[in-house]
Amino acid sequence: MRIFRLTTRFLLCTAVILLYTSCFNKKTTPVKPEIIPIPLNQKVNDGTFTLDNNVAIKSDKAFSTVANFAKAFIENGSSITFTTNDTSKKISFIKDKTIKEEEAYALSVNSDAITIKANSPRGAFYGFQSLRQLLPASFEDASYKENSVTIQNIEITDKPQFRYRGMHLDVGRHFFSVAFIKKYIDLMAMLKMNTFHWHLTEDQGWRIEIKKYPKLNEVAAFRKETLIGHYSDQPHQFDGKKYGGYYTQEQVKDIVKYASERQITVIPEIEMPGHSQAALSAYPHLGCTEKPIDVATKWGVFDDIYCTKETTFKFLEAVLDEVMTLFPGKYIHIGGDEAPKTRWKACKNCQQVIKREGLKDEHELQSYFISRMEKYINSKGKQIIGWDEILEGGLAPNATVMSWRGTNGAIVAAKQHHDVILTPGSHCYFDHYQSTNENEPVAIGGFLPLEKVYSFNPIPEELTKEEAKYVLGAQGNVWTEYMKTAEHVEYMAFPRMVALSEVVWSNPKDRNFSDFKNRLVSYFKRLDAKKVNYANHLYEIKCKTTLKDGFTYFDLSETTQGKTIRYTTDGSEPTGNSAIYSQPIKVDKNIILKAATFNDDKLISSVLEKEAFMHLASGKSISFDVQPNKQYSGNGNTSIINGIKGSDKRFGDDEWLGFAGTDVEITIDLGKEITINSIQTRFNNSRGNWIYAPSQVIISFPGSEEYLPAEIEDTEEKLVDLKLETKISTRYVKLKVVNYGIIPDGKAGAGNKPWTFIDEIIIE
Ligand code: ACM
Ligand code: ZN
Repeated sequence: MRIFRLTTRFLLCTAVILLYTSCFNKKTTPVKPEIIPIPLNQKVNDGTFTLDNNVAIKSDKAFSTVANFAKAFIENGSSITFTTNDTSKKISFIKDKTIKEEEAYALSVNSDAITIKANSPRGAFYGFQSLRQLLPASFEDASYKENSVTIQNIEITDKPQFRYRGMHLDVGRHFFSVAFIKKYIDLMAMLKMNTFHWHLTEDQGWRIEIKKYPKLNEVAAFRKETLIGHYSDQPHQFDGKKYGGYYTQEQVKDIVKYASERQITVIPEIEMPGHSQAALSAYPHLGCTEKPIDVATKWGVFDDIYCTKETTFKFLEAVLDEVMTLFPGKYIHIGGDEAPKTRWKACKNCQQVIKREGLKDEHELQSYFISRMEKYINSKGKQIIGWDEILEGGLAPNATVMSWRGTNGAIVAAKQHHDVILTPGSHCYFDHYQSTNENEPVAIGGFLPLEKVYSFNPIPEELTKEEAKYVLGAQGNVWTEYMKTAEHVEYMAFPRMVALSEVVWSNPKDRNFSDFKNRLVSYFKRLDAKKVNYANHLYEIKCKTTLKDGFTYFDLSETTQGKTIRYTTDGSEPTGNSAIYSQPIKVDKNIILKAATFNDDKLISSVLEKEAFMHLASGKSISFDVQPNKQYSGNGNTSIINGIKGSDKRFGDDEWLGFAGTDVEITIDLGKEITINSIQTRFNNSRGNWIYAPSQVIISFPGSEEYLPAEIEDTEEKLVDLKLETKISTRYVKLKVVNYGIIPDGKAGAGNKPWTFIDEIIIE
């Protein structure tokens, strides 16, 4: 009896559960896919496909590499094994000639089958990358232990906006293992990026084996030591440790093959005529002075570049002969950037070439250099890419231009009907800071947050529709002066590479940053599984200051949805019990604001810290005879009288104002005549970044004879304070800030006028 009753109950229970499950299955709203880059068209349907050991994988012969990739990914990521039986349930890769674009695909998941159609292996591969993102993230690190998984039914048709979708990596400043290069390629492939720009030669190291010139690997691949800290930290200090390495030709072949299996073309960059000090250290006779020289141990731009004599061309042609056999792609990048003409101007050989070729100057000599190399490379059936300096002195006939100093290079080249690739510093330099948080690891400078990358439009507005056709696409650049480790490269490249992938692949009408961030939260799980050390500033608080009725307000926002900002104003750390932010915080006394984002009561962001204080100028009005540079205009002109000091470490924050190479006259209107006792401010003096404190500041008080000139000390200190004391009754305070003047020889930016960066002007 007991057994019977038990069994009945058991059966009954099971029936109820089955009934419930099947009802539940029917009723669930389909899972929303979170694919990055977002596909052109996707329609989610009811139902799911069950991928298990009864599924076969089938492929047209043309797509067998892709099918093998898919098979390995699924079988390695789970306990699923594809059957070799001819079952009704299949994942099929089908060549479809009606799909016109090379990289387009159609992915169909329905309860009976998964089909990926494309006209090329690229398209088929991208179809699988989309399918991959419909699988749990645990497939990425093989922690999905089940032998079955359900996949949401969906129809996707998709194709990219741009045909060049690139990522660059500088292995010259720091050298990274073959394993890491493969990981980087893997991560690119997941995002449907198709070009890896491998920056292989630099002043600080030559990184590719060249059999004909063994000293490139014995000598040029190693530097005797490396600069410690930031270039602008003076005086320069070095670590005293030999550093270097290079990739053998076998390793290069292996990487190129690995990339090709992931539908990625590798473009090698062999820099010329500049950034070649390492090569000159191995073969000094290739320089103008022919004097021995070391592989560079610090960062920057160096005067010693290849001489334009015949020996150099023979050398570079032989180097490229070896390089071109290793890289089957169409392009060879020949650099061309940042080549000072100092040596050429003083060189008998170079001057002779100018005369012989009837050239106007050293810029035309650079153009001659590049055109000549182009001719050689073209003769081998390849094309060149160069940085936008190759426009100076005339563009080589078939060159593709990589525009990095803004977009102007792209505009000029496209108007001359040359192909262009956009990599402007403003949106594509992933070596710049991505957060204003003071605790970010040291970076070269600049500020490129995720949202700005995401907002990029690779087609400059200045181009007509016809000219825009020369825009092949865009690329993220990762220069590694300040990235010693693979983890640090990952931190700088991710998630900015993820944002860029959507810029170059997805339709602009589907691009929405808020939606992107929600998908990115899921994508992070994939990056976690792949052990990628990405930066997560998603929940970071944005702080704007506004002035109203003479008071500064902190206006805080958090860019994701459904999270809470909590804050304190007494300098204590915010906790799950701190005040919830609901409206801008008025600064009516001296405060230390600390705020952070919370999910319920769990802290999920870094803590924002701002100190604000009241002084006589805070909240008053200010005017300039010259406006701050657009890139360094803080939170508007009142940024320097809002009671908030700029960062000690970062001149690019919202509280500093930067003026490019000019004097500036600043007038503060205190609203009415009041007695003041002191005026103080400070200047940034990051000389490695071409930022110098002014030579002189003259303070005057319109309507009064009083006049306070102050000479500023010429120092290497990174911050220079100024405080003048005087008791005067005045409504207006005027500061004439006199630019430092020409940067002396031997310093970064020599011959140019530097920037002036000014912080809060405190009047008491
Ligand atoms: C570059 O950043 N020098 C191309
Ligand atoms: Zn020379």
